[in-house]
Amino acid sequence: MKGVVVMGVTGSVAAYRAADVARDLMRAGFEVRVCLSRGAAEFVTATLFEALTGNPALTDAFDEPKPGRMAHIDWARDADVLLVCPASANALARLAAGRSEDMFSTIAVASTAPLVVAPAMNPEMFSHEATQQNLKALRDRGAIVVEPTEGDVACGEHGQGKLAPTQVIVEATLQAAMRSDLYRGTRVVVTAGPTAEPLDPVRILTNRSSGKMGYAIARAAIQMGAEVVLITGPTCLTPPPRADTRRVETASEMLTSALNACQNADLFVAAAAVADFTPKEPRSDKIRRDGDLTVELAPTQDIVATVAEKFPELVVCGFAAEVSEVEAAARAKLEKKGLSAIAANDVSRSDIGFDSDDNEVTVLFRDGSKIEIPRSSKLVVAMRLLEALRPLMAPPGKN
Ligand code: C5P
Repeated sequence: MKGVVVMGVTGSVAAYRAADVARDLMRAGFEVRVCLSRGAAEFVTATLFEALTGNPALTDAFDEPKPGRMAHIDWARDADVLLVCPASANALARLAAGRSEDMFSTIAVASTAPLVVAPAMNPEMFSHEATQQNLKALRDRGAIVVEPTEGDVACGEHGQGKLAPTQVIVEATLQAAMRSDLYRGTRVVVTAGPTAEPLDPVRILTNRSSGKMGYAIARAAIQMGAEVVLITGPTCLTPPPRADTRRVETASEMLTSALNACQNADLFVAAAAVADFTPKEPRSDKIRRDGDLTVELAPTQDIVATVAEKFPELVVCGFAAEVSEVEAAARAKLEKKGLSAIAANDVSRSDIGFDSDDNEVTVLFRDGSKIEIPRSSKLVVAMRLLEALRPLMAPPGKN
């Protein structure tokens, strides 16, 4: 069995085609559990899907096929993939906003399973800015959007809005299932955010870093089935719920925490912007502003290089935030620090990098090869990066 697909069927004429999709998903080896929105129930019945899938088909958020068990939580936990097919404009709006109004949209906010949406609607509704913004929001969160095709739609118009072919939807679901399993059984350690080196009790020496990239890597690794340790410097972000989060302040604390966590890890991703220098003798009293101040700084120890040296079997990926000669500088760091791979980004650009929700990186590998990850949300960049790093690690079952 490939896993459980929880399939939301929503209010579109193409709801009749959801029956074929459900059958083909079962032929591909999935267990299929269907939720109908109220709109979908105007076109197709729960009985149809119950007969096809052998599972109860649910509609209302309070449906309880097993008395005393909350199905929206059980199904959210059991799901390996969430598929919305067809996805109406209203369903996309509910999902984008995280509104839990019926059984499927409630499961969607309770689940960490990857989401696949296959929109089908009138071409004007599909091209409407609101619909496109909702699709962008879902894509940015890592959802796979199976684009509708162009053709004659039920209302008599011609344009983009027809539900994609069944096979394309099944393939996207298989891709999502593979992604959600890619890191199953592995342990991933991620450093994120800046470090803070105390000058005195109220002042610190730190780096510009929001921590968003590292947190996105932790979130993506969890979605792909890994056990994740997130070692984070001070940030304003909320860690992903299932991460084992360890909070540190200084580079030295981050190093100790990383060496500890990497003992039984399979992958170490160093996304933290570690301070390169730390005050030699932090003052115990507040420094007063009486004239010039000279502070002696000592270099911090390189965390990623130390980890790579200490654990030669571990796959280690660093980051290189550069402002010029990005690739050459990153390749030099890859060699110098003994890394398996390095993700290089140009932080002189304001549309990516620091504080931005988007990033664009070039991943350089030890064997001289490289891949480009085009500009996308940090979560999507994180997913692509993890997909690229997985072949460097031991195959599944050997961990
Ligand atoms: O040398 P630079 O700071 O540009 O290298 C960046 C990479 O090295 C990042 O992966 C960062 O997390 C890591 N690093 C580290 N310890 C340091 C400095 C940087 O792990 N002290």
